[in-house]
This record gives sequence, structure tokens and C-alpha cells, in this order.
Amino acid sequence: MPEFKLADRLATLPPYLFAEIDRVKQEVAAQGVDIISLGIGDPDLPTPQFIIDALYESAKKPVNHRYPDYIGLLTFRQAVADWYKERFNVDLDPHKEIVSLIGSKEGIAHFPLAFVNPGDLVIVASPNYPVYPVASGFAGGEVLTIPLVEENDYLPDLDAIDDDTWKKAKIFYTNYPNNPTAATATPEFYQKLVDKAREFNVIIVQDAAYTEVYYDDNKKPLSILETPGAKEVAIEFHSLSKTYNMTGWRIGMAVGNETLVAGLGKIKENCDSGIFQAVQEAGIEALKHGEPYVKEFRQIYKERRDYVIDALRNINISCRVPEASIYVWANTPKGYTSAEFVSKLLRETGVVVTPGNGFGAPGEGYFRISLTVDTDRLKEAVSRISQL
Ligand code: MLT
Repeated sequence: MPEFKLADRLATLPPYLFAEIDRVKQEVAAQGVDIISLGIGDPDLPTPQFIIDALYESAKKPVNHRYPDYIGLLTFRQAVADWYKERFNVDLDPHKEIVSLIGSKEGIAHFPLAFVNPGDLVIVASPNYPVYPVASGFAGGEVLTIPLVEENDYLPDLDAIDDDTWKKAKIFYTNYPNNPTAATATPEFYQKLVDKAREFNVIIVQDAAYTEVYYDDNKKPLSILETPGAKEVAIEFHSLSKTYNMTGWRIGMAVGNETLVAGLGKIKENCDSGIFQAVQEAGIEALKHGEPYVKEFRQIYKERRDYVIDALRNINISCRVPEASIYVWANTPKGYTSAEFVSKLLRETGVVVTPGNGFGAPGEGYFRISLTVDTDRLKEAVSRISQL
């Protein structure tokens, strides 16, 4: 019998966080437990009907049944450019500074293959979306994790990184609004990061997937590309997933520095054949006409957020009030590690939350709640948490 050994890059890799949570969830559900899933950040609200209608019309056109353009329809890239201009006052050239993605995860996972050589240093601010270090490792990069701590509002201390490290670094990964901590970035932080990156020739990868879920119209999250000089060094990943409840559709974009965009495009030409054009045409409609719907989603998330914050505090679980994102980042109750608390909660009550340490060691002592069930279910979840 032939024996097939996994490549080293996979053999040492822990199970993907959300796949592992899913596995345990299925196990508990099989025992007849009523599961409340506050784990993965997968919006429960449906995609607005006008986007589905647009998909239906576009899917009927034979021209859309053939291979799409690798970097995306020019009309989609133009819609992204118009949206960035309207939302962030950022100018983007749709020919050179935008590439469409099969969801931002795909682009984030492929990006290091374009710019990281074996042994190159990649800095990841952590807790972090697990794909940044894993994808960097697939490209042979050495990952340096720098901690995001509550006392510094979950912004990395850039001065704590010495000049030798900056000189060696190839990529700096950042993500605001932050998953999992729900922290937002300030203009001063972005300016300092951009200045460091320009000084030391470092690429900034900023994951902006959650900029549209915010709770105060006067504190809208920023694009890093609003920062003077950012286009010299930064690529920003964005997605229609969380904004328009389109996680299953797989559509996103990377925008910014043209060399970085082109490098990613080159990898993608060799790996995939673009996004189904009907999905891109539906995406254009979302970007053009989605804002009134997104406004309603924000209101729903706000009600859920306010409920959860109050209810957790009432049972002596401390947590930050998020200004953006679909997450609440909370301290695990005394006496539990993140993994112990999450495992006990799931096995004894059927409530799924994500352990903070699943996002890297600096997340130890925390757990993440995803606001992706309705308030009645959130009430039930908090009541079960209180029984532990
Ligand atoms: C999360 O739950 O952290 C994210 O939703 C996962 C993802 O977007 O891939």
C-alpha cells in the first residue's frame, strides 16, 4: 500500500481554528444539544434581495458563462474605485490599483507568495486572523508576532520594534477594525506605520474587511489609504462579505500600491481564473446601491452589541465596547484559560464562542463572541453562560 506523507508545511500546522470548532460543534450537536453558534463571523442576515435579483439576471447572460477576466471585470473594478472615493475619499486607478478576489481570504492567503522569499521576516500584530502567519509560512517566511494589548487599545507599539528588525522585515500585517479584538485604528497610528514602512522599505498588508460595521456615524473606521504616503507601501484587502452579508458569494478586492496589486495578480493568474462574472455584476449593484441596507444592518448589530455588553457585565464578565466589527472581545471568567472556558461552555451548554488564544498567544485570557444570531438567541446564550 503506498504511503503519502503530508508536506512539511502542512504536517506541523495545527487544525484551522474554525474548522476545528466546527468539528467539536458537530460532535456536541450529534448528542442532541441545541447549539447556539457565536463562533465564526458569518452574518446571519440574508443578502439584500436586489443583489440576488442582479445575480439572477446576470447569470442568464451566456457571456457570463465563460472564463472571467483574471483581475476582474473593469466595471467591477470601477465600482470599487467609485466606492473607495465616496466612502474614504481615496482615488484608485481601476486599471492598476485594484484586483478582484475570490473573497479577501483568498487574496490574503496568496499575497505572500508574490513577495516573500524563504527566510524573509514577516511581522504579524497578534491576536490575529490565522491566515496571515499561515500564508506567510507557506511562502517560507519567518513570522515575528508582536502583541496587541488592551492597555494600548490593541494598537501595536511600533517603537518597541528595533531598527534591525524593521530592516529585516518584508511585510507588516495589520487589521482594523480588528478581528478579534474589535479595536479601531487612529490616523496617528496609520501615519506612524506608513512612515516606518517607507523608511525601512516594508510592505503593509492591511485587512479592512470590517470597516462598514461601525456603531457611531461620527467615528467611521478609516482606510489606511487615507494616510499620506500609504500608496507607496500599502495594499488593503477588502470584502463584500461582512458589509452586504455575502460570505458565501466569495467576492472581495485588494487595492493600493500598483506593484503590490500586480504581484498578487500574477500569482492569481497562475492559481485561479477569476470570479464568476454574474457574481461580479451583482457585486457592482451591492457597491452602488447597498448603503441604505448596510445602515439597517448596523442598527441590528448595535442592538445586539448593546444587549451583549450589558448582559455580560451583569454576570461579571468584563468586555470592551466595540466601536466597529461584528465581534465582542471578552475576558474569560477567573480560573479558566481561554481553551478551558470555551470547551466547557460548548460541551456543557451548547454555546459556541471562539477562544482568544486561537488567534495567537496574546489572545490568551479572552474569548470572542460573534454577533451573528438574533437578540433572543443572544439572551439564551448569555443565560447559559451564566450557569457555568
Ligand atoms: C472569523 O470568524 O474570524 C472570520 O469570519 C473568518 C473569515 O472571515 O474567514
